[in-house]
Parts: sequence; structure tokens; C-alpha cells
Amino acid sequence: MSTNYLGMRLRSPIVASAGPLTGDPTQWDLIEHAGAGALVLPSLFEEQIDRDAFAIDNTLDAGTDAFGESLSYLPEFESYDTGPARHLALVELARERLTIPVIASLNGTSPGGWVKYARYLQDAGAQAIELNLYNVIVDPLRSAAEVERRYVELVEEVRAEVAVPLAVKLAPWFTSLGHLALALESAGADGLVLFNRLYQPDIDLDTLDVKPRLQLSTSAEALLPLHWIGILRGFMSCSLAGTSGVHDGSDALKLLLAGADVAMTTSALLRHGPERIATMLSWMRQWMSEREYDSIEQLRGSVSQGSVPDPEVYERANYYQVLHSWKR
Ligand SMILES: Cc1cc2nc3c(=O)[nH]c(=O)nc-3n(C[C@H](O)[C@H](O)[C@H](O)COP(=O)(O)O)c2cc1C
Repeated sequence: MSTNYLGMRLRSPIVASAGPLTGDPTQWDLIEHAGAGALVLPSLFEEQIDRDAFAIDNTLDAGTDAFGESLSYLPEFESYDTGPARHLALVELARERLTIPVIASLNGTSPGGWVKYARYLQDAGAQAIELNLYNVIVDPLRSAAEVERRYVELVEEVRAEVAVPLAVKLAPWFTSLGHLALALESAGADGLVLFNRLYQPDIDLDTLDVKPRLQLSTSAEALLPLHWIGILRGFMSCSLAGTSGVHDGSDALKLLLAGADVAMTTSALLRHGPERIATMLSWMRQWMSEREYDSIEQLRGSVSQGSVPDPEVYERANYYQVLHSWKR
């Protein structure tokens, strides 16, 4: 069941993707024992670091104004955890406790932040870094070309600064995804993680508040990464990870057949617990043995666009067929 991902040999193709369970040290043993090939820690959010630092700044200022002599009671500013220290300690602890590779994830906001925090994560022991490019571009004056150029530059900048493998986690909404994917690979990405789920806010009809809404995924969502991994596999040599909607062994297996090196899962682990990984792997082993597959390598990409008799099923021709396949 082993596979190569980001230049690392993983014992299994199921990776626990970033989420609350991978950030909880009490769950690590369970994730590892269930058979995960690697674990992605929750993202280090630059925005959170800035907010924490700002809050402490304000507290110090408020105290000083209220009591002239209070400064002497306040601890030294340096002793506050205004930086990413807690997160870096989590990376160090994960490295100590886990035998499977630990991938750190980063969601930066400033150009310098991406580079600086990527280096910190590497120095804390992360065996690879996932750049979580979660960005909703709402400014109508920013063109797609400009945004994509910035993503590519960002990967170049981080690549120049860190030696560990780099994965880039992308949302699916690009006009020409293949073009961007190749540019990211040339910029130094060792792998792409397809796809990030973008969350949409919802309206509460009682209060008329607009509220964030987080819903766990369903298996139906795995078809989007499956489609794109099937297309990209033929012209990309970097690693590909399928994520979104991996809930059982069949979802994971389809992504591997389309050309993914690993299938990642978060919602299924939140819903069923880390043992779900063992269930997925056992289902996959059974399917493989019934069809006499000896390894993941043997089946990986065998149903990608370049390998199927009718490559058009991955393209537009499929559109007409799909519409006309509907029956009452
Ligand atoms: C509660 C929650 C927290 C998450 N936190 C992160 C995070 O910190 N960084 C990240 O890149 N993705 C994060 N994700 C996204 C997951 O890693 C994953 O990409 C997404 O949920 C799709 O996979 P799934 O269908 O298996 O849930 C989070 C998802 C959930 C549900």
C-alpha cells in the first residue's frame, strides 16, 4: 500500500489532512495506528499571529494608561507568546511523537510572512510544508493573471528559502487550471493538493445576520478533484494529492486510479473518528486483491485521461453525454 508523495515514501496512500483532529495530540496515536501515511497539521495562520500580537499590545497600552505605576507589574513584553511559538511547539511535538511524516501547513497574508513562517516551520522539524493558498479575491480591480502571477512568485520565494518539499493547496476556481499548475510546478512546487474547499457565508433569516457556515463534505465532492487529477496527471510530474469528499475506500481508490499519489481526508475523520482510515485501507486492500493488483503503483493513474480509451470523457464531450444520460 506504499506510495511516493513529495519525495517521501509513505506506508499508505491515505493522509490525514489539516483539521481539528490532526491538531490534537491525543488523536495522533489513533491516526498513526489506523494506518495513515502522513499527517498534515492545521495551518499556521499569519492573520491569527498578527491578531494575538495586536491584542497583547492593546492590553499593555490600556494598563499603562490606567495606572501610572502599572508598567512595573506587567510582565516583559518579550515573555508574551505573540509569535507562532505555540504552533511551532506543536510541530516539534508531532515530530517527536509520530513515526509517519509530519507536514506543516501555512496560510500567510504578507509576502514576508509566507517566507519567514515557512522557514520557522521547517526549523521546527516539519518534513514538508503545505502552502494553503486560501484566498477569495473580491477586488474587481485585480485580474486573474495578476493573482496567479503572485501565487507563482510566492512559491518561488518560499522555495528559495526552505529545503523541505513544498506542496501547494489550491481552490478549484481558476480559468485555466492546467496552466497555473504547470507554472507552480516550474516555480518549485513538489506537489499540488487539489482541492481546498472554499466556505461560503449564509444568511440567518431570523436575525438577518450573515454568518460563516461550516459543513462537512460528502462523497459527491470527490468528483471535482477526480476530474482534475485525471486531466493533470498526464502532463505533471510532481505529486498530486486528492482532497475533498474522501469518505470511504472507494473515494480514495478512484482518486488514485485517476492519478493521485495520495488521498487526503478530514471530514470523514471528524464524523467517524481516526479508525475510519483503517476501514478505508481494508476496503482498498480487498478490492485490489480481488483484481490482482499488487501495489498502489500498479493502479495509480491507470484511469487518468492519458490512459483511458476515450480521453474525451474527461473533456467537454462529456457535457453533452451527461445531459442526455438523465432518465426519469
Ligand atoms: C474544521 C475544519 C478545519 C480545517 N482546518 C484546515 C486548516 O487549518 N488548514 C487547511 O489547509 N485546511 C483545513 N481544513 C480543510 C481540510 O484540510 C480539507 O481540505 C477539507 O475539509 C476537504 O476535505 P474533506 O472533504 O475530507 O473534509 C479544515 C477543515 C475542517 C472541516
